[in-house]
Amino acid sequence: MFHRYLNKVAVVTGGSKGIGRGIVKVFVENGAKVVFCARGAAEGEALQAELNQSAAGSCSFLSCDVSQEEDIKRLIAHTVTLHGHIDCLVNNAGWHPPHKATDDTTADEFRDLLNLNLVSYFLASKYALPYLRQRHGNIINISSLVGTIGQKDAATYVATKGAILSMTKAMAVDESRYYVRVNSISPGNVMSPLWLDLAAQTGAAAEAIKAGESNQLMGRMGTEDECGLAALYLASEATFCTGVDLLLSGGAELNYGFKSQICS
Ligand SMILES: NC(=O)c1ccc[n+]([C@@H]2O[C@H](COP(=O)([O-])OP(=O)(O)OC[C@H]3O[C@@H](n4cnc5c(N)ncnc54)[C@H](OP(=O)(O)O)[C@@H]3O)[C@@H](O)[C@H]2O)c1
Repeated sequence: MFHRYLNKVAVVTGGSKGIGRGIVKVFVENGAKVVFCARGAAEGEALQAELNQSAAGSCSFLSCDVSQEEDIKRLIAHTVTLHGHIDCLVNNAGWHPPHKATDDTTADEFRDLLNLNLVSYFLASKYALPYLRQRHGNIINISSLVGTIGQKDAATYVATKGAILSMTKAMAVDESRYYVRVNSISPGNVMSPLWLDLAAQTGAAAEAIKAGESNQLMGRMGTEDECGLAALYLASEATFCTGVDLLLSGGAELNYGFKSQICS
């Protein structure tokens, strides 16, 4: 097998489950040395053991909460201690709160979400950039399709994801002088533990999943592996792409649908 990211060092936040797990897996299968974090140790350690058995590259799990600046510093320092340099940072750890109207959302809830979904991406980039500059590396920020097209009862989440798109472009401008590329991926519906949690909160999970599948022209949700392959493309082959957003959405944003919510 041709290894598309052989011996490259990548940091992936939130790599123990869902989209992050797909990115860790595809990178390791393609020869990368990945350091990934999450808060819960059990899933992270299990994935580390599984991938280190047979894949071409290797991975190392670190328990860390990206809403804490000191934890982010520790993640970057740990990676440099282990491998000496960093070629790629994937900012992925984030959360979609239960759907709620603006009237029912507090300022503190919004501030906490900004801290987790946006400030953590900024801080991980800030602490990784001195190393990425040495290697002409790249950053991949996981945003969301809804950062572009909006979503019902999710104004705070949508705001964090839209801001990630803007920050990606601004950092692409600033870091070009160091030959560091900064890009984003906007997934649409991708089956993950987070998606399952949100479906369960509707009280009719099976119907929510079916509706989620039919949002895409392709009639299904995206997979963790497809997210990993999109990130691998941006990291290893998209050498003339910076400041771009890769829509990974199965065509969910295309065509008209039944969208009016106006009460008669
Ligand atoms: N799934 C989708 O359809 C979809 C669509 C668009 C965008 N996204 C975005 O894609 C990213 C991943 O989503 P997902 O669906 O894969 O979520 P997920 O299934 O909930 O997985 C999230 C991962 O991040 C970790 N994590 C969460 N909070 C963390 C924190 N404070 N510090 C460190 N790690 C943390 C989780 O582990 P622990 O809980 O153990 O910490 C887990 O490994 C998010 O940014 C999300 O907004 C997802």
